[in-house]
Amino acid sequence: MFRLISTVQVKTCSKCYPVYIGFNLLDFLNVFLSRNDLKGKFALVSHKSLIDIYGGKIISSINRLDSDAVIIDVPEGEESKSLNVLTQIYDVLVNNRFDRWSTIIAFGGGVIGDLAGFTAATFMRGINLVQIPSTLLAQVDSSIGGKVAINYRGKNIIGAFYQPNLVVTDLNLLKSLPIREFNSGLAEVIKYGVVVDPQILNILENCSKPLPDDVIAELVTRSCNCKARIVEADERDEKDIRIMLNFGHTIGHAIEAASNFKINHGEAIAIGMVYEAKLSVMLGFLDVDVVDRLINILSRFGLPTSVNQLDIERILSSLRYDKKIKHGKIRLILLKSIGNPIVHDDVSIGSIRKVLKM
Ligand SMILES: NC(=O)c1ccc[n+]([C@@H]2O[C@H](COP(=O)([O-])OP(=O)(O)OC[C@H]3O[C@@H](n4cnc5c(N)ncnc54)[C@H](O)[C@@H]3O)[C@@H](O)[C@H]2O)c1
Repeated sequence: MFRLISTVQVKTCSKCYPVYIGFNLLDFLNVFLSRNDLKGKFALVSHKSLIDIYGGKIISSINRLDSDAVIIDVPEGEESKSLNVLTQIYDVLVNNRFDRWSTIIAFGGGVIGDLAGFTAATFMRGINLVQIPSTLLAQVDSSIGGKVAINYRGKNIIGAFYQPNLVVTDLNLLKSLPIREFNSGLAEVIKYGVVVDPQILNILENCSKPLPDDVIAELVTRSCNCKARIVEADERDEKDIRIMLNFGHTIGHAIEAASNFKINHGEAIAIGMVYEAKLSVMLGFLDVDVVDRLINILSRFGLPTSVNQLDIERILSSLRYDKKIKHGKIRLILLKSIGNPIVHDDVSIGSIRKVLKM
């Protein structure tokens, strides 16, 4: 049987949907699909390595609904968030006569979620989308909130807001996740602790390692609640609320790009958070103790906290492609204290250069 730990409801203007969080949910996917009235044709978009381990469970679950699924195997890595891979998926959908009532199941980390989500958003002007996030980062962040995108001469340049019909978060999936990927997801969990729910930081400072199942379940539930509440308040990132979740991301994305994606997303966000916190200190908003606390928590989970060998000018030139640049000024989320972020509209390249050299 499955063990449902919590259901986080996300209520946005465009769609209301549940995020089911628990153990062993994959074997009972049919239960969650039929609860949400999904039937007809399914396309399972994932990576071969994940299909090999989990594909059988998903397909037999779908078969129990008297439906079938086309499997679409996408190569691993950020490079798959591309126009080229997108059109290959469209081809499979057209060849298999997918219609407006068909469903795409995005089974994987943030790369699959973004790519398959963008496919669902655009195919036939939008078809059903089920997110089954398999990395910690995707479970606590990218599967909720409807931001879907591919890369085009820069990160997430072509995209949409497109909420899923439901999210099925099976915590058992994290057991096969390499530790580097798990820790990378913790960077986003730590971000929620810094920006929204300080209790998360207390849990991470005091828990045993490796994290027990019940602690992981609590951290994932708390993080999903943070994300859901913020998305509900500002679905399309227009009110200076959702943007708070970009803490660490502006510098982080630039670091990710400058490293040619050798530094993964969560690691880059970890480093980005440290420098955006340092910038907050440099500009007189934040007490330096907070930076030390942040560095300690990140280090406890093996996350990097400095740019080390990276070319600082490359990081700065990557910043130019960031969507948060408004009228030529860099918008950054800075901190006044834990749980108290602010938007700063006018950060100069010079001060970012200075802080990256610290
Ligand atoms: N849309 C959003 O709101 C949002 C938010 C944050 C990040 N993102 C995007 O997410 C992407 C990064 O996502 P990610 O960190 O999940 O990386 P990823 O999707 O590349 O997954 C990392 C690796 O883990 C493997 N993997 C996934 N699940 C596994 C499992 N259960 N067991 C074993 N291996 C597994 C994958 O095959 C892959 O090689 C970036 O493209 C980023 O832009 C999107």
